[in-house]
Amino acid sequence: MAEVVFEKVRKTFGSTVAVNDLDLTIDEGEFVSLLGPSGCGKTTTLRMLAGLEEPSGGTIRIGDRVVNSVPPAKRDIAMVFQSYALYPHMTVGKNIAYPLKKRGIREPERSERVMATARLLELETLLDRKPAQLSGGQQQRVALGRAMVREPQVFLLDEPLSNLDARLRAHMRAELIELHRRIGRTMIYVTHDQLEAMTMSTRIAVMNAGVLQQFATPADIFHRPANVFVAGFIGSPAMSLVEGELVGSGGGDGERRFRVHCGALDVALPAGLLNRSAAPGPISLGIRPEDILLGSGHHTAAVGVVERTGHESIVRLEAQGTPLIVRAPGDTPIESGETVRFSLRVERLHIFDSTTGLRLNADTKDS
Ligand SMILES: Nc1ncnc2c1ncn2[C@@H]1O[C@H](COP(=O)(O)OP(=O)(O)O)[C@@H](O)[C@H]1O
Ligand SMILES: [Mg+2]
Repeated sequence: MAEVVFEKVRKTFGSTVAVNDLDLTIDEGEFVSLLGPSGCGKTTTLRMLAGLEEPSGGTIRIGDRVVNSVPPAKRDIAMVFQSYALYPHMTVGKNIAYPLKKRGIREPERSERVMATARLLELETLLDRKPAQLSGGQQQRVALGRAMVREPQVFLLDEPLSNLDARLRAHMRAELIELHRRIGRTMIYVTHDQLEAMTMSTRIAVMNAGVLQQFATPADIFHRPANVFVAGFIGSPAMSLVEGELVGSGGGDGERRFRVHCGALDVALPAGLLNRSAAPGPISLGIRPEDILLGSGHHTAAVGVVERTGHESIVRLEAQGTPLIVRAPGDTPIESGETVRFSLRVERLHIFDSTTGLRLNADTKDS
């Protein structure tokens, strides 16, 4: 049983609250990413789980065991860091064997386990090389191998791909997904890169300033962001967020109806879009770039910068002072300086209470 549970876990460094009363339950076999901007407490969370940092408060459990005072070596976890220091004078085989040797595991078991790990990571043909003779991706795989060879219950990875170039990162993402599928162990992965978190995770824990913002599947994080922070952080380009007012507009048939007045946008919301706690007042309106349709509609805007990537065009609009960002097809015939008409996919608008930052859509899930 390798469920990982944080209960009211807290870490302070002097007056800095690095992790603020974290409650998080990670199921056995999950691939969970801790995602958030630099300094939000991801590494501190992982280091507390690894036993490298002592919590200032709260309880950490791995399986049935409270591990707060269990030394790192006894926690049955392995950690891979961004700077995966391999021993340069040792061969790949010896690097992978090292943790077994340190634990007194003898031949032939040691070599058998090294070979099994090397096969899993497709390193069999590289076992006699030194780290300097390997590519960055191969070195990263050796570092993973060294962590895996002990067959720990839980893997902790702290930005393990951030030193690699973009192509290799994409390749290693696919490899990690495949590896997780094959070995089925719990993996906890720290990253500030939303693409990594979105593509690899069963669930993502989004953090900001030491506080867990949302813990949900990638699809939920994207389609049902729990608050304004998650809404603005996830998605590239980020969704447009426009401050304004939610106003009631009767309806007459007993159904609650609302409009939003946000900057230049005055929009009637579809019945049932908002949850029961929604009430007239200040809100932030969130619009994903793909939910603005150019060409027709009753809104108009001036076209600013158009960035064409081939398969899509990222278009900046200014609708009477309200900036909006649009994802349009690559061949959209549009030029900077023009005026365009546009419409919104109103059923996909995101509405947040300006005071609490919380999502007001009816689809909001508890996280
Ligand atoms: N050993 C330390 N001493 C003092 N402050 C620290 C220490 N480790 C982390 N911090 C602070 O705690 C906060 C969270 O850091 P960290 O967990 O490294 O963030 P992340 O990994 O998300 O970038 C930051 O404000 C950081 O400066
Ligand atoms: Mg970090």
